[in-house]
This record gives sequence, C-alpha cells and structure tokens, in this order.
Amino acid sequence: MDALLKLVLVTVAATSLHALAAPPGATLSPRVTEIIASRCSLCHGMEGQSASAVYPRLAAQHPDYLVKQLKDFRDGRRKSETMTDMAKDLKDEDIAGMASYFSGRTAAARQPGDTDLAAVGKYIFQRGNSYSGVAACASCHGANGYGTQQLPRLAGQHPAYLEVQLKEFSKRERNNDNAVMHAVAAKLTELEMRAVAVYVGGLQ
Ligand code: HEC
Ligand code: HEC
Repeated sequence: MDALLKLVLVTVAATSLHALAAPPGATLSPRVTEIIASRCSLCHGMEGQSASAVYPRLAAQHPDYLVKQLKDFRDGRRKSETMTDMAKDLKDEDIAGMASYFSGRTAAARQPGDTDLAAVGKYIFQRGNSYSGVAACASCHGANGYGTQQLPRLAGQHPAYLEVQLKEFSKRERNNDNAVMHAVAAKLTELEMRAVAVYVGGLQ
C-alpha cells in the first residue's frame, strides 16, 4: 500500500514536471500547429530562426509585437507582398497561438559580421548621432536590443532584414505605425543603416 502510494506520488510529480517543462507549442490547437508546420515554417523555420536573411527571425520576439504585426498584415495595415496572403485567413486565436509559440523559441547565436562596421553600428545604437539628430536606438530598443512588449527585439535579427526595414521606414513604405521609426530612419545614411544592422544582428 505504502509502496503503491509512493509510486502514484512519484508519477504525479513526474507528470507535472513534464507539463511545466513542455514547450508552449505543446498546448497549441491542431489547426495552429498545422498552419505553422505547413505554411509559416517554409520561410520562418519550425523554430522561428528563418534560414534566409530576407525572412525575419520570429524566435524570442515579443508576443504582443508579433500579434500586432500579424493583425496588421491580415487587415491590410502593414503592406507586404508575401505576408498579406499568409495572414489573410488567420483568426485572432490562431494569431495568439502563433505569437505565443514563436516568442517561446530561443534565438540561436549568429556569427558576428564585419567588426569594423559593427563598431560604427555600436556607436549609433548606443549613442545616436548628435550631428544629424539621430536618437540612440538603445533608448527605446534597450541597451542589448531586447526591446519591450510593444517594441520589437532587434538582437540577433538578420541584418539584411533590418536594413530593408530601415529603408522602408525612411521612405514610409512600411506603412503601419511608422511615425517614430520614420523620424529616426530618415536621418540615417545608408552606411549607418548597414552598420547598425550588422551590430544588432550580432547581439545575443
Ligand atoms: C513565403 C514566405 C513566408 C511565409 C510562408 C510566411 N512568412 Fe512571415 N514574413 C515573410 C517576409 C518576407 C516577411 C517580411 C515582411 C515583408 O518584407 O513583406 C515576413 C514577416 C513576418 C512577420 C513580421 C516580423 C517583424 O519582425 O516585424 C511576422 C510576425 C510573420 N512574418 C509571421 C508569419 C507567420 C505566423 C506565418 C505563417 C502563418 C508566416 N509569417 C508565413 C515571409 C513569409
Ligand atoms: C523613440 C523610440 C525609438 C527609437 C529611438 C528607435 N526605435 Fe526602432 N522602433 C520603435 C518602435 C515603436 C517600433 C515598432 C513599430 C511598429 O510597431 O510597427 C520600432 C521598430 C523598429 C524596427 C522593425 C523591427 C522588425 O522586427 O521589423 C527596426 C529594424 C528598428 N526599429 C530599428 C531601429 C534602429 C536601428 C534605431 C536607431 C538608429 C531605432 N530603431 C531607434 C521605436 C524606436
């Protein structure tokens, strides 16, 4: 009897430990799991690491930011040749599930890029450019580029994607919520854009 009770207790403890250690994806609805596996993973990877530099990494990105961007793609607020189509049939609860899944993945380490360029980028990121009136990126995105619930994480993002976004903000081609970033990006030179992208892409 005693031994049986012990066995039951051990089993219960092991089960709850397992539940705690389970990835957020374990509680996803079959529909969301299916869409991630058959659609999102083609470009962003199953772990959200996006092997190609033109597709942003989603791993470790803040869930609220992911939800907002996905709704903006779906509802036509953020223009995108690719993502408008990808998001058009997503329900709010699918979006919430996908955001929670991808934000729970860990950002894999990247190889640092050109170190001379990264040094220029570090200066811009941490201190801005007082000659042209560029605010330090760190003042909003955080000293390590981790962002906040509303502000995207930049650390470890593909530099090529970051550079394209900066160019689009500068021309207001990224058309959702671009006021703040337009003011920043419009004052950056092309060299500064590339440098800051290389620097933050190497942050872990
Ligand atoms: C055919 C490739 C492709 C597929 C499939 C795809 N995406 Fe994307 N995704 C992109 C591209 C490209 C961008 C960058 C926006 C742009 O340039 O249009 C992007 C951007 C995003 C962003 C914005 C990230 C940021 O940092 O602002 C999110 C979130 C996202 N995708 C989620 C998803 C989800 C969830 C799915 C599955 C439903 C999905 N994507 C399927 C190519 C794809
Ligand atoms: C005053 C605050 C502020 C400053 C300073 C700032 N940002 Fe941002 N940034 C934002 C906000 C807010 C967003 C999110 C816009 C949205 O919700 O679509 C953003 C978004 C971005 C994105 C898009 C990320 C993605 O995943 O698509 C990039 C890239 C970026 N910022 C780079 C920079 C760089 C580089 C600097 C410095 C040169 C900088 N930011 C300075 C507030 C700021």
